[in-house]
Amino acid sequence: MFGRIKPLDAILRTAEKKSLHRTLGPVQLTLLGVGAIIGTGIFVLTAAAAQKAGPGMMWSFVIAGFVCAVAALCYSELASMVPVSGSAYTYTYAVVGEVLAWMVGWALILEYAVAASAVSVGWSGYFMGLVKSWTGLELPAMLQAGPSWSMHGLLPYPDFSAGLVNVPAIFVALAVTWLLMIGTKESASVNAVLVAIKVAALTMFIALALPVLKAEHFAPFMPNGLGSSGMGIIGAASSIFFAYVGFDAVSTAAEETKNPQRNVPIGLIGSLAICTVFYLLVAAAAIGAIGAQPTAPGVAPGSAEFNQQCAALVAAGKEPLVCSKEALAHVLRSINHTFAGDLVGLAANLALPSVILMMMFGQTRIFFVMARDGLLPEKLATVHPKWKTPHVVTMVTGVFVAIAAALLPVGQLADISNSGTLFAFFMVSIAVLILRVRDPGRVRPFRTPAIWLVGPVSIVGCLILYWFLPYDAKMVLPVWGGIGLVFYFLYGYRKSHVGRGLVEVHEEDADAPHNSVPPMPGTE
Ligand code: ALA
Repeated sequence: MFGRIKPLDAILRTAEKKSLHRTLGPVQLTLLGVGAIIGTGIFVLTAAAAQKAGPGMMWSFVIAGFVCAVAALCYSELASMVPVSGSAYTYTYAVVGEVLAWMVGWALILEYAVAASAVSVGWSGYFMGLVKSWTGLELPAMLQAGPSWSMHGLLPYPDFSAGLVNVPAIFVALAVTWLLMIGTKESASVNAVLVAIKVAALTMFIALALPVLKAEHFAPFMPNGLGSSGMGIIGAASSIFFAYVGFDAVSTAAEETKNPQRNVPIGLIGSLAICTVFYLLVAAAAIGAIGAQPTAPGVAPGSAEFNQQCAALVAAGKEPLVCSKEALAHVLRSINHTFAGDLVGLAANLALPSVILMMMFGQTRIFFVMARDGLLPEKLATVHPKWKTPHVVTMVTGVFVAIAAALLPVGQLADISNSGTLFAFFMVSIAVLILRVRDPGRVRPFRTPAIWLVGPVSIVGCLILYWFLPYDAKMVLPVWGGIGLVFYFLYGYRKSHVGRGLVEVHEEDADAPHNSVPPMPGTE
């Protein structure tokens, strides 16, 4: 199993067979990164971070951004060396073998599909807020949110005090699935417009909220201390990590980049840096304008107790920041900028579906490659004759995304997604170190600087953030991993092409720009 390594040279021959169109420069790459990064994390999860860390959440943004930056540097080396689709799954297949690659691919389902669900739920909050603000109409609370869950032993247990099913989230998830199935591509220009809308919305938010900042809103600075599982500054960093996820879109586009040695790191670090600056200013402005307003110290957002406290506060007409499902619009409305609040809501409504699209696209691409390797049923990789998209896998993914979006709250979805992402980043950071030792002479279009410092820091950073996730989200990874292993031994172990001695070189690749399936959204 561990010996089943997919030869790097075979993978690279796949890459060579593709028509490489190196068209992306540093500006497009940075825009691609910002387009994939800014989403539900800053627009929605700011509220949960405020409950967890209070004003200290500004440090949470810095910590999460730092871990992403070192992981991004490791990612880039492998992405530039192994420029084929499948991302972390393919890298680990080539370095540490099939069973771990399967585990990474399995964990990436958490990263991409569950992230798509989280962003769908984030969209739903802003959509309902905008509808209410414009028309006064509201869906019944039970249809606006899913239940929240806690683990009792190994079994999840629902609490329906916040809601039953999130209808708008199902709608947006299925609408995006449909767009992907019929082959909708997000062009570079559409991506640029959406980035402009998001950046304009955040800039307006900062410009209106920062001037009314009150110093007393920053005290106490760390109401829940430095960190415990799911709380405090590091606990909030583990959750707000979600706000940075998506930068791997840049490394995955390495093969389409001119001079990747220079441009990939510019794109990665550039987009992360831009987002970090915006996030810090937004966090400072939100807290400064109206205060973190935690319901009670130490109460975890999304818990039954928290939901009850929020319901009571909302009923009394005193909805605090931490209870809002549209945090940034809420802040602006609270400081009497109702119209600007609506505009921010509109920006989120317009821009978040493209984040869902990118995440779902990433997921279908990984399933596609795993199916092609024989680890998942090959039927999944069927390409539609007319639409030229892997429609079966897209539909399966979309249904899964819609169900998770319907039945889970945004904070829990983001935390679960983070657990999978952190595992993938952890494995990539290990893989890059192993490959430096095992195959030092291989051409590396991008070399991670100070790898023996950056790699270990990334490994430790991922471990720390994982450790500080809430208990329930942390438990999902081993349980999900266990299910994955059962699947592997029942199916993939026997059917694996590498295991059966078939090492094929594919003419087409899931993200080959001009082949059977569409290219990375935002790159053409
Ligand atoms: N970083 C993306 C977001 O916050 C996933 O929505």
